Amino acid sequence: MGTLGWSFFLLLAVLVGYIWYEPAFDPESLRGARVVVTGCSSGIGEQMAYHYAGFGARVLITARREGRLKEVVAKMKDLGAQEAIYVAGDMGKPEDCERTIQTAKEKFGGLDYLVLNHAGLSTLKKKNKSPFWDGDMDILHAEATVNYISYIQLASLALPLLHKTNGSLVIVGSLAGKIATPFATYYAGSKYALDGFFTSLRQELVMQDINVSITYCVLGLIDTDLPANFNKMFNFTAKLQRAPPSDCAMAIIRGGAARQREIYYPWGGPWVATKLSRIVPQLLESLTRSLPPKLLEKSPLFTGEEN
Ligand SMILES: *[C@@H]1O[C@H](CO)[C@@H](O)[C@H](O)[C@H]1NC(C)=O
Ligand SMILES: *[C@@H]1O[C@H](CO)[C@@H](O)[C@H](O)[C@H]1NC(C)=O
Ligand SMILES: *[C@@H]1O[C@H](CO)[C@@H](O)[C@H](O)[C@H]1NC(C)=O
Repeated sequence: MGTLGWSFFLLLAVLVGYIWYEPAFDPESLRGARVVVTGCSSGIGEQMAYHYAGFGARVLITARREGRLKEVVAKMKDLGAQEAIYVAGDMGKPEDCERTIQTAKEKFGGLDYLVLNHAGLSTLKKKNKSPFWDGDMDILHAEATVNYISYIQLASLALPLLHKTNGSLVIVGSLAGKIATPFATYYAGSKYALDGFFTSLRQELVMQDINVSITYCVLGLIDTDLPANFNKMFNFTAKLQRAPPSDCAMAIIRGGAARQREIYYPWGGPWVATKLSRIVPQLLESLTRSLPPKLLEKSPLFTGEEN
């Protein structure tokens, strides 16, 4: 084999190794762990709450709808949570962010995990607007406040607590924070911004010997309930798209517990798309542009998911 052959072989070996690599995960490490998860009234957040409960953690969950929170907390107790409490609030409000971390501090006396998952995607739905960016600064401010600024505020409030425990910060990001995504300019902007902020913050923590891990989760469109016609159209990835939110929630929890820099869920599509977008950006961009606009409009990215 020539140099090229060996290089190819090596590349293949690395790729296969990457696919099969599973970081060590000890479920027992979560017993009694003090966890805050935001955006838990539905979807991935709700599923994370149940998994943490099943591992015997002490968990504080947040969302806007108190009725839903009560139901989720009741189920968490059934599943074995050592403690399950909630803060009903809007993470777009600074005082609600403060109340969340303050409550964790008072009730738990410390914090091991902060999992930031909440999203405010409903403004577009309410206004029923064109999917193209039209310069609506009200929407931009509202989205940036909930999807970006509040993440930084919550993380900053929690950092002194996480520092004491060598804890972990988990950011639920999106593939839209890694590749160019039409019809989601402000959403993609906030997810890119989260990646940029927290990747840079990680550098600063290392430089200061602060042993708090930061995990950025790159989730595909598939995790939340997609309309049936989306699945029909993208049949080639239909299998991935049917991956239940519960599995996604578990992947996030494992990634946080293993202190991974990033996780990709589902593994295949988002990982390949992210890597390709660095090597052949134009190709990826023309592919995402060719997705039928009508279908994209109906994806949860644009219709919004209430939390
Ligand atoms: C950071 O904390 C984790 C969890 O306590 C520990 O496993 C790891 O060894 C620590 N890292 C360093 C560099 O000491
Ligand atoms: C946290 O990690 C540091 C190393 O970064 C280690 O010296 C220390 O013992 C750890 N503390 C706890 C509470 O695990
Ligand atoms: C989607 O794929 C399945 C097999 O995986 C096939 O049976 C089905 O006909 C396909 N549907 C469309 C619309 O292509």
